[in-house]
Amino acid sequence: MATPKTKDNLFLRRLPERPAARAPEALGAYPQVRMRRNRTDAWSRRLVAEARLAADDLVWPVFVQEAPGESAVAAMPGVVRYGLDTLIEAAGQAAEAGIPALALFPYYADDALKTADCAEAANPENLVCRAVRLLKENLPDLGVFCDVALDPYNSLGHDGLVADGCILNDETVEMLVRQSLAQAEAGCDVVAPSDMMDGRIGAIREGLDQAGFQDVKICAYSAKYASAFYGPFREAVGSGGALVGDKKTYQMDPANTDEALREVALDLQEGADMVMVKPGLPYLDVVRRVKDAFGVPTLVYNVSGEYAMLKAAAQQGWLDNDKVVMESLLAFKRAGADAILTYAAPEAAERLKAG
Ligand code: PBG
Repeated sequence: MATPKTKDNLFLRRLPERPAARAPEALGAYPQVRMRRNRTDAWSRRLVAEARLAADDLVWPVFVQEAPGESAVAAMPGVVRYGLDTLIEAAGQAAEAGIPALALFPYYADDALKTADCAEAANPENLVCRAVRLLKENLPDLGVFCDVALDPYNSLGHDGLVADGCILNDETVEMLVRQSLAQAEAGCDVVAPSDMMDGRIGAIREGLDQAGFQDVKICAYSAKYASAFYGPFREAVGSGGALVGDKKTYQMDPANTDEALREVALDLQEGADMVMVKPGLPYLDVVRRVKDAFGVPTLVYNVSGEYAMLKAAAQQGWLDNDKVVMESLLAFKRAGADAILTYAAPEAAERLKAG
């Protein structure tokens, strides 16, 4: 028996796509509906929660240094760079707290290793490669991401090779392939190109496959914006002072989101296994569009400046650190991210564990 689709039969009427245009009657009307009923009890709030955050969603970005011990990063309270002697204990604790993977970034105090040809990036014995081997020997089940970009090794602080003030795309891509191969050889699980050169994902995939590294994953920093929120990171890796000019000729313009979809589409075509949006909190709209458009594993990078903002306000007593950190991370999940790179991963994982 066909149900007549009249105006009186609002629940059966196909609703227009835009939620704002939905007939209010179809969603219930006062006094029958009281939105606060589901919010009354902790159990019912838990039951109807749409987004959830788990330690499983976190990737911890970790800075490594040549010197033994630890050194602090001034603009990132609570974040330290680890020497290879202290790295394993810290990584072990993160694994213990349920964090699936960490992402390595090298700090080079020694300017002698920063050159115009960025040769150290592809040195199989460089700091990152040694850190990867150590991690894989001691904590084989902890995932390891390696950043693929030339900036820590570049005397000019750029992610690409520079000639006459221009960033050379294709020459840089060749170096990035060599850097990825050194990292794969060392045993990393994921190479994560953060450089924003054109065509690098396809070239890296081909290079890895030809060398027998079919199982090494690629996480593409696909929609990476030219952002001032990276400030504290550049101090942490020691590339800030070196940077000549800015990164606007390769990183994306903060005004654009259609362009982000195109970047993601290209990286997927070229073989990316996961894509990333970066920075995070000011770009949640981009996370949502990417997730909706492609439905692929979408990571978001809660970058150094975002971390620094919350820590600074918390140190002043202006914000409640624990609450704003957890709320921010949940916001990424609500926006559609599958995983979050965050310096707050260890503290968040501990809190999630404690319940
Ligand atoms: C460099 C790189 C940057 C970050 C990750 N990889 C900085 C940049 O592009 O200048 C930023 C991370 C952060 O701010 O936390 N390839």
